Amino acid sequence: MCGVVGIIGKKNASSLVLEGLKKLEYRGYDSAGIASFYQKSIQVAKSEGKLVNLINKVNDLTKDNLYYDTSIALGHTRWATHGNVNIKNAHPLTSENRVAVVHNGIIENYASIKKTLESEGYVFTSQTDTEVLPHLFNKYLKKGHDFLQAGRLVLKDIKGAFAFVAICLDFPDQLFVSRNSSPLAIGLGEGSNFVGSDAQSINHLTNKIIYLEDGDYALIKVNNIEIFNNESNKIDRKIINVQSELGLITKGGYKHFMEKEIYEQPSVIPHTISSFINPKSTIDIDLDKLGFSQKSSLIICAAGTSYYAALIGKYWIEQIADVPVIVDLASEYRYREPSIFGQSSMLVISQSGESLDTLMALRYAKKLGLKTNAIVNVEGSTIDREVDYSLRTKVGPEIGVASTKSFTSQLVILFLIAIALGKKFNNLKPPKIESYVSYLNKLPRAISKMLELESQIITVAQAIKNANSVIFLGRGYLYPLALEGALKLKELSYIHAEGFAAGEMKHGPIALIEDKLPVIMFLIADGLEDKSISNLQEAHSRGAKIFLFADKACIDKAPFAHFKIEIPNFSDEFKSVLSPVLMSIPAQLLAYHVAKERGTDVDQPRNLAKSVTVE
Ligand code: F6R
Repeated sequence: MCGVVGIIGKKNASSLVLEGLKKLEYRGYDSAGIASFYQKSIQVAKSEGKLVNLINKVNDLTKDNLYYDTSIALGHTRWATHGNVNIKNAHPLTSENRVAVVHNGIIENYASIKKTLESEGYVFTSQTDTEVLPHLFNKYLKKGHDFLQAGRLVLKDIKGAFAFVAICLDFPDQLFVSRNSSPLAIGLGEGSNFVGSDAQSINHLTNKIIYLEDGDYALIKVNNIEIFNNESNKIDRKIINVQSELGLITKGGYKHFMEKEIYEQPSVIPHTISSFINPKSTIDIDLDKLGFSQKSSLIICAAGTSYYAALIGKYWIEQIADVPVIVDLASEYRYREPSIFGQSSMLVISQSGESLDTLMALRYAKKLGLKTNAIVNVEGSTIDREVDYSLRTKVGPEIGVASTKSFTSQLVILFLIAIALGKKFNNLKPPKIESYVSYLNKLPRAISKMLELESQIITVAQAIKNANSVIFLGRGYLYPLALEGALKLKELSYIHAEGFAAGEMKHGPIALIEDKLPVIMFLIADGLEDKSISNLQEAHSRGAKIFLFADKACIDKAPFAHFKIEIPNFSDEFKSVLSPVLMSIPAQLLAYHVAKERGTDVDQPRNLAKSVTVE
């Protein structure tokens, strides 16, 4: 989603803003722009497509003395919401060469504001909701207000979720910033200050960060930052020292971030495990904080891949702990008047910690009186800060838009929660607890073995790369994984893909089967494998091309399969209970290799964003 960066007080502010924008690229965007002041004029450069186009443009303009790097600048990567992807709609947006604004989020009441501003003579040059912001600033400045007062009045006019940065020629030593539901971090320098969509985007400049809270706004000068809350009271927000994780953000010899992140799993998952299993091999999860001082049911909300992790968590928690779990899409939860009968807490799952749908679901749960907990990867993210209790996956920055190592680490925490609850409510007896914990310790090595399947997976990728549609099937724990496998494939390769519970095929989806349609099944002997094989047979009989990923016990049960990949040999219960983690690896590698075969943008697939900060 959109990213913003602003800098004041550094000689080469524009170059540093471009560096900051580079670090926001992972979020997904389709155009970019930058603005600064030079000799009482706003200079703007914008481009469509990748940031490199903007960087080249700024370089060319600089060479021709048409752009000057000065000590104030703001920049933007745009993920289009209102208006097509084109230069006119790219940010910064300006008003009468006086104000320039970059914005992330949506101004929900922009249409009525625009109408009023147009009737007052303001000329709109874009189709964006954002353009009302510079014009509103301009309007209030013309009435004699200073930049801070004008900003206050703008905030009174607008509704929505936003984070924006504004600069004004009349106050060339000030940045006005504000946030409401969209993330924004202020960075503190010496003789300079910064603002960015996340701490990472400005950590080449400082490690001292202030996260604004919802409704906050601030006036940032070179040596001074004034922050106000939504009641316009001046307020001090905590300064946090963030560790620079920049060193980790390289491809480390891999072709894509996604490939690196898939291969990192055996080395980063131990970080997740060790932060919740202490040296005595007991689980360090505070169940009281989690809302389980006594037995109740749990609601889990999430989006996309994190939602599929939640579905797998439901299977584990219900089976291992006998604790009822409801899983809901975050985007649905707060609008469906949910019943909280029998619940005392909500768990949200979010890699980024910024998904607006998920954030809103947790805020809604708070209003309903539930405790809120989260599984997040990004420390300091909005969700991480707002929940009562945050369980961090600690797998390091995930740059590829498609979630890989975050997903498997979310699963690890959900499995730990299931064991801890099972123990607390006496559903799981000691030998079982110990063996489950030992399974987690064996998991990284098992993932490494699963990664050895890559060359066979490339063969499957080549076989399905030209398909128009692909069906994924799974049963039990592997049903949500079928959904995840289909999501991964569609988002990376743009091939239509759907996942189904194997037993559901005959209730409708089987109508989709036609000659040579690839059907991919994940299968582990779990007592129900013969039923799954029958479902596969039914698809085969109607012409489907069958691809089976299965363990030794099942692999020969489908002689009709077009291609079979036998997974390495693990102990029966281990591979059965942790099958969704193990099978995630072929699902990820398959999507990755199909995308590579088709030449799509693996790390930044079209239309997608890493941090989904709009509803
Ligand atoms: C898919 C993917 C998305 C995210 C979803 C939620 O590979 O990455 O479906 O899982 O947008 O994001 P988070 O977990 O950051 O809330």
